[in-house]
Amino acid sequence: MKKIKLIKKHSHKSSLWLNRHINDEFLLKSKLEGFRSRSSFKLIQIDNKFKIFNQNKLNILDLGCAPGGWLQVIKRLTNYKKSKILGIDKLIIKDINGINFLQRDIFENKTIEEINNFFGEKIDILLSDMSPNTSGNRSVDHLKIVSLIESVLDVSELFLKKNGFFVCKIFQGGAQGELMDRISKIFKSIKYFKPQASRKESPETYIIAKKK
Ligand SMILES: C[S@@+](CC[C@H](N)C(=O)[O-])C[C@H]1O[C@@H](n2cnc3c(N)ncnc32)[C@H](O)[C@@H]1O
Repeated sequence: MKKIKLIKKHSHKSSLWLNRHINDEFLLKSKLEGFRSRSSFKLIQIDNKFKIFNQNKLNILDLGCAPGGWLQVIKRLTNYKKSKILGIDKLIIKDINGINFLQRDIFENKTIEEINNFFGEKIDILLSDMSPNTSGNRSVDHLKIVSLIESVLDVSELFLKKNGFFVCKIFQGGAQGELMDRISKIFKSIKYFKPQASRKESPETYIIAKKK
């Protein structure tokens, strides 16, 4: 793809940012293909590799779904009319026809009850692309990341079916020690995958695993 060069009017830092933004292949692609976020391509690449949407009728929970890029992918790649799909985020999203959304914080007690009421049975796929608002303080941010992942693990223990797919964003240095022990107790076939659409400089990566 041809790179666009900016006329230098901005500070060095903002020029770098603008250059990266304008030449971001996946951002351009997401606009062209009608996706709300470049994150959509991360899920497409995860599915290309791990074939998570491999059944006709699926119960899918997408945690941290705003602005809805992954939900759009789910709608395109699954038989969504036969499936039960729920997205949750503390931020509101614009409606996606045929897809259910709850504006909730995952840490609110009633969220768990509402997930239970919505599905009324176990789920096939649990997705989490949640990331906390970072403070810049490394140890505070580390704790925030760990508690978010812990909350996703709690949800997986409650709702995910045996052999159900677990896809969860983690951050380098954010999932070690006790957290990894817990992950290996709950899941099997644990793989780490950084989709091409995830920026190289980002510490994010994804765990893809199956419930034991
Ligand atoms: C990277 S974005 C997700 C992008 C999404 N997968 C998409 O494709 O559009 C991370 C999201 O996690 C959400 N989030 C972070 N902490 C949360 C919490 N405690 N409860 C619910 N959502 C949370 C944020 O509000 C944010 O919208």
